Amino acid sequence: MDTEVTLRVDGVEHQLTVDTRTTLLDALRERLGNTSPKKGCDHGQCGACTVLLDGQRVNSCLALAVAHDGGEIVTAAGLATDGLHPVQRAFIDHDAFQCGYCTPGQIVSAVAMLAEAAAGRPSTVTFDTPGDGPNGGPVDLAVDPDEIRERMSGNLCRCAAYANMVPAIQEVAG
Ligand code: FES
Repeated sequence: MDTEVTLRVDGVEHQLTVDTRTTLLDALRERLGNTSPKKGCDHGQCGACTVLLDGQRVNSCLALAVAHDGGEIVTAAGLATDGLHPVQRAFIDHDAFQCGYCTPGQIVSAVAMLAEAAAGRPSTVTFDTPGDGPNGGPVDLAVDPDEIRERMSGNLCRCAAYANMVPAIQEVAG
Protein backbone atom coordinates (compact mmCIF):
# COMPACT_ATOMS: atom_id res chain seq x y z
CA MET A 1 0.00 0.00 0.00
CA ASP A 2 1.33 3.43 -0.89
CA THR A 3 1.33 6.35 1.51
CA GLU A 4 2.47 9.94 1.28
CA VAL A 5 5.16 11.07 3.68
CA THR A 6 7.00 14.29 4.25
CA LEU A 7 10.65 14.03 5.21
CA ARG A 8 12.99 16.92 5.88
CA VAL A 9 16.43 15.71 4.83
CA ASP A 10 19.55 17.78 5.38
CA GLY A 11 17.41 20.89 5.61
CA VAL A 12 15.29 20.28 2.52
CA GLU A 13 11.67 19.15 2.71
CA HIS A 14 10.56 16.31 0.45
CA GLN A 15 7.11 14.90 -0.14
CA LEU A 16 7.04 11.43 -1.59
CA THR A 17 4.79 8.47 -2.01
CA VAL A 18 6.25 5.28 -0.61
CA ASP A 19 5.16 1.74 -0.07
CA THR A 20 4.44 1.25 3.62
CA ARG A 21 7.26 -1.33 3.72
CA THR A 22 9.89 1.14 2.46
CA THR A 23 12.68 1.66 4.93
CA LEU A 24 13.98 5.11 5.67
CA LEU A 25 17.31 4.01 4.19
CA ASP A 26 15.71 3.01 0.88
CA ALA A 27 13.64 6.19 0.81
CA LEU A 28 16.79 8.25 1.25
CA ARG A 29 18.97 6.37 -1.20
CA GLU A 30 16.58 5.16 -3.87
CA ARG A 31 13.84 7.77 -3.82
CA LEU A 32 15.75 10.90 -2.87
CA GLY A 33 19.17 10.00 -4.29
CA ASN A 34 20.92 10.68 -0.98
CA THR A 35 23.64 8.03 -0.95
CA SER A 36 25.39 9.35 2.13
CA PRO A 37 23.93 6.64 4.39
CA LYS A 38 25.22 3.28 3.18
CA LYS A 39 23.54 -0.10 2.99
CA GLY A 40 25.80 -2.62 4.61
CA CYS A 41 23.92 -5.43 6.32
CA ASP A 42 20.35 -4.05 5.95
CA HIS A 43 19.64 -5.78 9.28
CA GLY A 44 20.63 -3.28 11.95
CA GLN A 45 23.98 -4.92 12.57
CA CYS A 46 26.64 -2.69 11.04
CA GLY A 47 25.68 0.97 11.50
CA ALA A 48 26.66 2.00 7.95
CA CYS A 49 23.16 3.45 7.48
CA THR A 50 23.22 5.63 10.62
CA VAL A 51 21.43 8.98 10.35
CA LEU A 52 20.12 11.46 12.86
CA LEU A 53 16.35 11.21 13.08
CA ASP A 54 14.84 14.01 15.12
CA GLY A 55 18.21 14.37 16.83
CA GLN A 56 18.72 10.71 17.70
CA ARG A 57 21.01 8.34 15.84
CA VAL A 58 19.17 5.47 14.24
CA ASN A 59 19.92 2.64 11.87
CA SER A 60 17.84 3.86 8.95
CA CYS A 61 17.56 0.31 7.58
CA LEU A 62 15.42 -0.55 10.60
CA ALA A 63 13.11 2.48 10.41
CA LEU A 64 10.07 2.58 8.16
CA ALA A 65 9.70 5.83 6.28
CA VAL A 66 5.95 5.98 6.95
CA ALA A 67 6.55 5.78 10.69
CA HIS A 68 8.49 9.04 10.55
CA ASP A 69 6.23 11.31 8.54
CA GLY A 70 7.37 14.85 9.26
CA GLY A 71 10.72 13.61 10.54
CA GLU A 72 13.89 15.68 10.49
CA ILE A 73 16.77 13.66 9.10
CA VAL A 74 20.41 14.63 9.00
CA THR A 75 22.89 12.51 7.06
CA ALA A 76 26.67 12.76 7.12
CA ALA A 77 26.47 14.94 4.01
CA GLY A 78 24.12 17.31 5.83
CA LEU A 79 26.55 17.75 8.72
CA ALA A 80 28.76 19.87 6.49
CA THR A 81 27.01 23.22 6.52
CA ASP A 82 29.50 26.05 6.96
CA GLY A 83 32.48 23.93 5.92
CA LEU A 84 33.21 20.51 7.27
CA HIS A 85 31.81 19.47 10.63
CA PRO A 86 34.58 19.20 13.28
CA VAL A 87 34.14 15.42 13.38
CA GLN A 88 34.52 15.22 9.60
CA ARG A 89 37.65 17.36 9.78
CA ALA A 90 39.08 15.24 12.60
CA PHE A 91 38.48 11.99 10.67
CA ILE A 92 40.47 13.45 7.76
CA ASP A 93 43.24 14.82 9.95
CA HIS A 94 43.63 11.48 11.76
CA ASP A 95 43.28 9.34 8.63
CA ALA A 96 40.42 7.60 10.41
CA PHE A 97 39.19 5.46 7.52
CA GLN A 98 40.42 3.07 4.89
CA CYS A 99 37.84 2.14 2.24
CA GLY A 100 35.46 4.77 3.61
CA TYR A 101 32.24 2.80 3.20
CA CYS A 102 31.36 2.89 6.89
CA THR A 103 32.64 6.44 7.38
CA PRO A 104 29.35 8.38 6.94
CA GLY A 105 27.69 6.19 9.55
CA GLN A 106 30.70 6.38 11.84
CA ILE A 107 30.71 10.18 11.66
CA VAL A 108 26.97 10.56 12.28
CA SER A 109 27.23 8.17 15.20
CA ALA A 110 30.21 10.05 16.62
CA VAL A 111 28.39 13.38 16.39
CA ALA A 112 25.37 11.92 18.18
CA MET A 113 27.28 10.14 20.90
CA LEU A 114 29.42 13.20 21.63
CA ALA A 115 26.18 15.07 22.31
CA GLU A 116 24.85 12.19 24.38
CA ALA A 117 28.01 12.04 26.47
CA ALA A 118 28.18 15.81 26.93
CA ALA A 119 24.62 15.74 28.23
CA GLY A 120 25.42 12.88 30.61
CA ARG A 121 23.07 10.53 28.82
CA PRO A 122 23.78 6.83 28.38
CA SER A 123 24.54 5.64 24.90
CA THR A 124 21.56 5.15 22.60
CA VAL A 125 23.35 2.23 21.01
CA THR A 126 24.56 0.24 23.97
CA PHE A 127 23.13 0.20 27.41
CA ASP A 128 26.11 -1.16 29.29
CA THR A 129 28.05 2.04 29.74
CA PRO A 130 30.19 1.57 32.84
CA GLY A 131 32.13 4.72 32.04
CA ASP A 132 29.16 7.03 32.42
CA GLY A 133 29.97 10.06 34.47
CA PRO A 134 29.34 10.10 38.21
CA ASN A 135 25.71 10.61 39.10
CA GLY A 136 24.77 10.74 35.44
CA GLY A 137 26.99 13.75 34.80
CA PRO A 138 28.79 14.49 31.56
CA VAL A 139 31.26 11.91 30.32
CA ASP A 140 34.72 13.22 29.45
CA LEU A 141 35.36 11.34 26.24
CA ALA A 142 38.63 13.21 25.71
CA VAL A 143 40.21 11.13 28.45
CA ASP A 144 38.19 7.95 28.17
CA PRO A 145 38.91 6.05 24.96
CA ASP A 146 37.18 2.93 26.28
CA GLU A 147 33.98 4.91 26.62
CA ILE A 148 34.34 6.04 23.00
CA ARG A 149 34.78 2.43 21.89
CA GLU A 150 31.72 1.40 23.88
CA ARG A 151 29.54 4.19 22.54
CA MET A 152 30.71 3.60 18.96
CA SER A 153 30.27 -0.16 19.17
CA GLY A 154 27.18 -0.10 16.97
CA ASN A 155 29.28 0.96 13.98
CA LEU A 156 31.46 -1.69 12.42
CA CYS A 157 34.47 -1.20 10.14
CA ARG A 158 35.56 -4.13 7.98
CA CYS A 159 38.96 -2.47 7.43
CA ALA A 160 39.45 -2.10 11.20
CA ALA A 161 40.27 1.62 11.05
CA TYR A 162 39.12 1.95 14.65
CA ALA A 163 42.59 2.83 15.95
CA ASN A 164 42.53 6.25 14.29
CA MET A 165 38.83 6.94 14.87
CA VAL A 166 39.25 7.02 18.64
CA PRO A 167 41.87 9.82 18.71
CA ALA A 168 39.87 11.70 16.08
CA ILE A 169 36.83 11.66 18.34
CA GLN A 170 38.94 12.44 21.41
CA GLU A 171 40.23 15.56 19.66
CA VAL A 172 36.70 16.84 19.08
CA ALA A 173 35.66 15.92 22.62
CA GLY A 174 38.64 17.70 24.16
FE1 FES B 1 21.64 -0.64 8.57
FE2 FES B 1 23.77 -2.28 8.54
S1 FES B 1 22.76 -1.31 6.85
S2 FES B 1 22.75 -1.41 10.27
